[in-house]
Amino acid sequence: MALKRKDLLGIDYLERSEIEEIIATAESFKEVSTRDIKKVPALRGRTIVNLFFEPSTRTRTSFELAAKRLSADIINISSSTSSVVKGETLLDTARNIEAMNSDMIIVRHSMSGAPMILARALKSSVINAGDGSHEHPSQALLDLFTIKERLGRIEGLNIAIIGDIAHSRVARSNILCLNKMGAKVRICGPATLIPAEIEKMGVQVYFRPEDAIDGADVIMMLRIQMERQKSGLFPGIREYSRFFGLNQERVRLAKEGVIIMHPGPINRGVEISPEVADGPYSVILDQVTNGVAVRMAIIYLLTEGRGSL
Ligand code: CP
Repeated sequence: MALKRKDLLGIDYLERSEIEEIIATAESFKEVSTRDIKKVPALRGRTIVNLFFEPSTRTRTSFELAAKRLSADIINISSSTSSVVKGETLLDTARNIEAMNSDMIIVRHSMSGAPMILARALKSSVINAGDGSHEHPSQALLDLFTIKERLGRIEGLNIAIIGDIAHSRVARSNILCLNKMGAKVRICGPATLIPAEIEKMGVQVYFRPEDAIDGADVIMMLRIQMERQKSGLFPGIREYSRFFGLNQERVRLAKEGVIIMHPGPINRGVEISPEVADGPYSVILDQVTNGVAVRMAIIYLLTEGRGSL
């Protein structure tokens, strides 16, 4: 088993068969995290570097746990503690890491395309752990895994993605991934937070959450990304919450057995009420649990696949 590519830069570049292979591999790895000794020797002797230039709780920790459970060595570098603060470029930083014989660099950066620049320049595998508003492929894959685990299929499901679509790399990767796997994707948010011509990505656009949620099998809520947007895109947090927030009343419009997802971090009481976030339909923490298995699969398949390049 291997992916016949060096890097994972985005869902856009993956074939459906590769996505299926990652999910199947993650299914077999999930059990490792439930053992007393949560480790397999698959990647003993490999060196992985987490290079995070933006804050992260879930992605960074989950890639680190995934690497450790595969017995790889992993170290963490953040922009604030690296020589980037002294003026070193991203590329020079990555080249210096590679000079220490790393096998894989996992990068998060505020600039869309940063992982691609590294992938072209380095021999090491590069994984995109979120680049600007572009893509967050491992998030979309763990979301796919969670939907399949809970609902048993992807094909034909109605999936509503609600929130700040314009600034969301999670939305973009999920739209690409879910479309490739045969789901019907609806997106919803204030008109100012919906990119122009997004219909060309094969989604249905809604401006009222009630319409997007009506008959949905899955509701995926997104955070307002204040750090990426200009001011004035919506009147205020209270209005946003009132018109677009997910509360119990709105959840009742969905299909019976609906699952509620959120990539995190959640802003309780803004895009999702605490009752819904912690309620019986929420799979938010399952997404986090599954993130480790999916990232084990990604790391494993890319590492094993390098020989075939
Ligand atoms: N979902 C996600 O990317 O979360 P973090 O920013 O905490 O990694």
